[in-house]
Amino acid sequence: VTRSMLFVPATRWAVIEKAATSPADAVCIDLEDSVPPDEKAASRANVIRAFRELDFGSKKRLVRINGIETQWAHGDVIEVVEAIGTSIDEIMIPKVASAHHVAFIETLLRQLESRCGLDRAIALHGQIETAAGFVWLREIASASRRLTTVSFGAGDYAASMRMPAAAIGVPDANDAEYAGHRWHAVMHGIVAAARTFGLACMDGPFASFQDVEGLERSCRTSRALGFDGKQCIHPAQIPVIHRVFTATAADLAHARRVIDAFDRAASEGRGSAAIDGTMIDEASVRMARTALDQSPATGSAQQ
Ligand code: COA
Ligand code: MG
Repeated sequence: VTRSMLFVPATRWAVIEKAATSPADAVCIDLEDSVPPDEKAASRANVIRAFRELDFGSKKRLVRINGIETQWAHGDVIEVVEAIGTSIDEIMIPKVASAHHVAFIETLLRQLESRCGLDRAIALHGQIETAAGFVWLREIASASRRLTTVSFGAGDYAASMRMPAAAIGVPDANDAEYAGHRWHAVMHGIVAAARTFGLACMDGPFASFQDVEGLERSCRTSRALGFDGKQCIHPAQIPVIHRVFTATAADLAHARRVIDAFDRAASEGRGSAAIDGTMIDEASVRMARTALDQSPATGSAQQ
């Protein structure tokens, strides 16, 4: 499980070097919105150099290309994959608005992998951050077997929906105006689509990198909604994300207790039992296994 993914602009070489040695589970070098238009083509060279020369350890290595409707998307994929196709794990597609967007990159990758003789398929990560991304979510999530992850992009989503918001992923006075959680429909939809098609799901970044408490609240909300992890834009955010997206000792102890009590009941021929006045059954065991799966010791989460 990728709990944290650190973004870094492709234009900033010294910062890319720091991202490579950070404790993030994944690093995504960005060619899209953190790179000015007149630097986009030239900054592909930094992506190539980074994945050729720097040691990213066991981190997942991603590059975020420009949107499919821009003039840069095809060049981003061709130049990067031709040069260092064996050294990247995933391509992140921003503003995915239809299954066609995913299919376009899938076809381009198949051609490039064949011509370059790559023996492993490069995976895809789709950012759901437009009104169309939400509307076509299930088609997008099932568009390609290469797609491993869908993520929520709060800033672009707000802009696309014309929902007022001051900063990316940071609640403000507008959130107090609505009795529910303003992003519930899209965030819940992303998690449901991910679970339906066996993908991972991540929440997008919290832009106020000095607000540790705000980040922690935001992480807790996304974890409560079922997200596997959260993207970030500053290394100081990584420990908070890892803490929230790893099951606590109390969570694990409770999960083991549920499983033990259920096993005892089952050995006595019963399908339900009580712990401290609360009923448990087979569904409780599945819930407990979800917690164990988020433990570095027993689950698929990384340390
Ligand atoms: N990855 C790795 N290291 C980073 C980093 C990142 N994304 N962001 C900051 N750092 C480093 C800085 O280089 C600095 O290192 P130093 O102390 O050795 O000089 C240290 O962390 C502290 O940085 P700080 O001074 O607090 O921040 P800043 O003003 O240098 O940068 C941002 C702030 C927001 C401009 C920067 O974090 C950033 O560009 N983040 C990524 C943006 C991005 O990729 N956006 C696209 C996706 S939404
Ligand atoms: Mg975006």
